[in-house]
Amino acid sequence: MSDHELRVSKIRDGTVLDHLPGGSALHVLALLGIDGSEGTGVSVAMNVPSDRMGTKDVVKVEERELSQAEVDVLSLIAPRATVNIVQEYAVIEKKRVERPESVAGVLACPNSSCITNADEPVTTRFDVLDDGLRCSYCEEIIREGIADHLDVG
Ligand code: CTP
Ligand code: ZN
Repeated sequence: MSDHELRVSKIRDGTVLDHLPGGSALHVLALLGIDGSEGTGVSVAMNVPSDRMGTKDVVKVEERELSQAEVDVLSLIAPRATVNIVQEYAVIEKKRVERPESVAGVLACPNSSCITNADEPVTTRFDVLDDGLRCSYCEEIIREGIADHLDVG
């Protein structure tokens, strides 16, 4: 993208999540537990043109780096995302997300009789399959709408 097409400013320090599916940015923010109350800069561009993806979303989070666990979960709703770490205006690291084998503590099980929904100190855990996520406790499978099952923040 040339400079005259730039929609949101470059950031000095933080993380740029690029190549998010068009329309997914608010889910991504929910997933990261970001709601603006942090007081640090957050820029969101939705449904901007992308050569590779048709349209994409971009989220820029200032003064924050993501943990590997956060990047892993991000891959579930944004499989082609690029995570750019920015320091002093320069991209010092660029990585693609990878699908993890399992995710713990981020999604709620849709099965109301699952042990993770009882009043027990049990952390949710899902195995990542090719076509969905399977609860490690009750084997319920989430096939779509992963963002609707987020249990973060
Ligand atoms: N970016 C930013 N602030 C900076 C540096 C980069 O917001 N100080 C953003 C860019 O606007 C872009 C992303 O971070 O959305 C990645 O930057 P860069 O690697 O320079 O862009 P591209 O080469 O186009 O990235 P890619 O090859 O991953 O598409
Ligand atoms: Zn379950």
